This record gives sequence, C-alpha cells and structure tokens, in this order.
Amino acid sequence: MVLAAGKGKRMRSALPKVLHQVAGRPSLWHVIKAAQAAHPTRIVVVVSHESDLVRNAVASWSLKPEPVFVDQGRPQGTGHAVLISEKAVGDADDVIVLAGDDPLVSVEHVKELVRTHRRTRAAASILTTFLDDPTGYGRIVRDGDRLVDIVEEADAPADIRRIEEVSTLVYVFRRDDLFKALPLVGRENRQGEYYLPDVLKVLRDKGETVRAVPVDLGGALGLNSRGGLAKVASILRHRIVEGHMSNGITFVDPANTYVDVDVRIGHDSVIHPLTFLHGSTRIGANCSIGPATRIVDSTVGDGADVSFSVVRGSKIGRHVDVGPYASLRPGTVLDQGSKAGTFVELKATRVGRGSKVPHLSYMGDARIGKFSNIGAGTITCNYDGYDKHATVVGDEAFVGSDTMLVAPVAVGNRGWTGAGSAITKDVPPGALAVERSEQRVIKGFDDRKRQAHGGRAPGGSRGDTKGHGTPVEGKGRRGGRGRE
Ligand code: UD1
Ligand code: CA
Repeated sequence: MVLAAGKGKRMRSALPKVLHQVAGRPSLWHVIKAAQAAHPTRIVVVVSHESDLVRNAVASWSLKPEPVFVDQGRPQGTGHAVLISEKAVGDADDVIVLAGDDPLVSVEHVKELVRTHRRTRAAASILTTFLDDPTGYGRIVRDGDRLVDIVEEADAPADIRRIEEVSTLVYVFRRDDLFKALPLVGRENRQGEYYLPDVLKVLRDKGETVRAVPVDLGGALGLNSRGGLAKVASILRHRIVEGHMSNGITFVDPANTYVDVDVRIGHDSVIHPLTFLHGSTRIGANCSIGPATRIVDSTVGDGADVSFSVVRGSKIGRHVDVGPYASLRPGTVLDQGSKAGTFVELKATRVGRGSKVPHLSYMGDARIGKFSNIGAGTITCNYDGYDKHATVVGDEAFVGSDTMLVAPVAVGNRGWTGAGSAITKDVPPGALAVERSEQRVIKGFDDRKRQAHGGRAPGGSRGDTKGHGTPVEGKGRRGGRGRE
C-alpha cells in the first residue's frame, strides 16, 4: 500500500508532492518500484489531492500488478489512509505500507525488511534510518532490536528531538493484526491526525513484537520540502552513477554528471563532466559523451562521440561524431559513421551512412543519402511560412558551402551544387547546379578608394604594408583602437 493522498503543503507546489521528479521519475514511481520487490499480489495506491493527476501518472507506467486506487477523501493522517484501504488490500498475509514521498527506499531495503519480518515472526517491522538533521521526522525510541516508540516531531520533547534515528514510512504488518489494531488509534496529538505509527504502540501494548530495522539511505529521507527534494535527488544521483561505474563505465567527475534512473550505458564508455543523460536514453559501449552535453530520450550507438551538444529524441548510430555545439532535435537519425559538426542544427533529418554535415548548417525535414557532404553553412529552407517541406539529397552528393536548399527540392545521387547557390529546382543525378551571378573583377579598385581618401588605408588601420599585402592589425592611426 502506497500512501499518496497528501498535498505536501511544505513543498509550496501546485504539483502533488509524490509527483515531484527525482532522477527523471516521480517520487511515487521510485516507491512503487521498491514495493514491487516484495512481489505483492496487489498494489493499492491511496490518493486524494489532485487524484486524477496521480492516477494518470501511475497508469502511464504500465505496472504489474496494475495498481488499485483508493480515494481517501479528506486526508486525516497516515493511519486513516491505511484504515480505509482494508477492503482494497484483500486477503494478503502481510501488508507493506510505504509513503509515496520516501523515494530513497530501494528494492534491497524492502527485501531486507520483509526477510527480517518473516524470520522474526514480528507483528510489525519498520525501516529506520539516521539523519544528520532529523527535524520533521518521527524519532525512534528503541530497546535493542525492539521498537519502544515513534515520537512525531510535533509531539517530541527536547531530549527525544535529539535522537538522530528516524522512522521511514515503510512498515510491514501481519494483515490481521494491522486491521484489528488500527481502529484503536486515536487522534489525540498536536496535528489532530490518525498516526499510522500509533498502531505500533497498540501492538506492543498487546505484547506483540515490533522490529525496527535500520538501513543506510545516504543521510536523507523524504521530499517534505524543496530542500529535502534536492538532498534526496543528489543521493539518488550518486547511487545511479555508482551503479554505472560498477558496470564498467568511466565517470570523469561523478558529482557533476546527471543520469536519470532509466538510462542505460554500455561498458567502457566515458562520461565527461556536466553531462545530463535524461529519460529513456541508451548509450552504447565505448562512447565518449560530454563534456557539457544533454541527451534526452535518445539512443547513441557504440563508439560514438558527442561533445558540447544537446540531443533530443534522436538516434545516433555507431561511430558517429556529434559536436561540438550541435543541436539534434526530435526525429533526427544519424546513420553509422556520419557526422553533425560544429554549430549544426538537425531536425527530423536522416543523415545516411558516412555522410557529413560538418559546420554551421540547419537541416530540417531532410533525408541525406550515403557518403554525401553538406558544405559549411548549408541551410534547408523547409518552411514557407505555412507548411514544412522535405529536402532529399542522394548518395555521394556534394552540396557546396552556403547552399540554400529551398524545399521541396532534391539533389540526385552524385549531384553537386555550387557554393552560395539558392537551389529551387531538383538537381538531376551527376549534375552540377549553380545559381549565382557571374563574378566581376574590377582592377585597381583599392588604389581608387585610397586616392579618394587622401591615401589612407580602409578601416582605420595603418596600411603600412607594401603592395596588396594584409594591413597590419593593431593600433589605428587615430589612437589605439585597432580595426573596428
Ligand atoms: C511520516 C511519519 C513519520 C516518518 C515520516 C517518514 C506519520 C504520522 N508520520 O511523517 O513518522 O518519520 O513519514 O517520511 O505517519 N498521506 C496520505 N494520507 C494522509 C496523510 C498522509 O496518503 O492522510 C501520505 C502523504 O501523501 C505522504 C505520506 O502519506 O506521501 C506521508 O505523509 P507526510 O505528511 O509526508 O508524513 P511525514 O510528516 O513525513
Ligand atoms: Ca513525508
């Protein structure tokens, strides 16, 4: 049972607390994934605040077993949330309760808790952890392995507040004991809520054993505030990067690399600093990614090199070179051995095997064949103000620098365009299309200009080179400002 009905006042957010993202997934997703570790026959999610948002999010994760929702109405505390879910739980032996806002609880933690619970035949077992700053959490009062009490912050006297061991909201109960004890819980506390932790007291008073199992969550616990969110995110990030390193991936600066939980990376890839790997991104083996690169929902083939670039919704093939300073927008496909170089933007464009777009280009809605070269500064004019149009470039074509490809237009296999051409008609295979005026040469132009300006060199430079050499850069005659 995952509790997700609270608003999360302390977050000061329009979004329900359990939907705030850590490492690319909502907190609630992490919690349900951990809950699945116990192979539950049923998953119950208790909702109320913005329940449609929460239900839709959960439904979009296609979880097995498919979660059942219980609407808590007006949330009256964690004990109340569990009480009203009795029917939904069905006839399980044990009930595991988790808070949707405690995403650092992992599969291993849940397994460990359930194992201890069954081995010791406890009526209830709970996970605890240690925090440098336990403020806000229920403090653990224990006697050896046995739990004596959990005291909520609001109800805790000063000596209890000093206890650094806190309760997570991950509990396992024997089902029958839980629902017999819950109705005995009152709301005589500072917050006037039914506290789930109070069930433990009821059980203990009946002479039942309650186990407190401490685990290392890394020093933080929940998302109660934005500060908590940042701490939790940083711990999770650290865990994810550690996991990749133990799988044989190099991180040059783990603390400054941001990898979402679903990202996969092949062995011997090197991830450079300030790299952000988001969403469903897949990186192959032996890649070099970063520095300063953001890749979202994209795949990168083995041996590719992507640096100083932004890549979204794209497919980068094996041994492809991207960047520095490339922007690959959704729908881009770079086939094996191709290249998108410096200051290149590609959108919904396929670059065929071994083809290169090396410098300063925009290609949108284009299909480029194999082993073609797109000259520096080439642009597809794909938008006429109303509609987008396609550009097709064949195999082994040579598009001259600064070509404007006015779409819809095609350059055939082994077709050429002259530098600086605005191509508006299809170029047949093997042909050259040039669209620019003939070059005129005006002899002695420089001399005429200088004569008209009292012999001065243009641009304020000294012009003290002989003949037609390059003027010396540096101090202009009008005082030290150089060429402007
Ligand atoms: C709770 C525990 C505290 C523990 C901490 C660990 C109680 C009374 N306190 O405190 O001992 O240290 O978690 O994170 O249980 N929720 C509902 N319905 C409600 C109230 C809450 O579904 O009526 C959900 C919230 O959405 C949240 C979770 O239960 O996901 C915990 O509620 P929250 O208010 O955050 O409890 P804490 O103050 O963190
Ligand atoms: Ca909480």
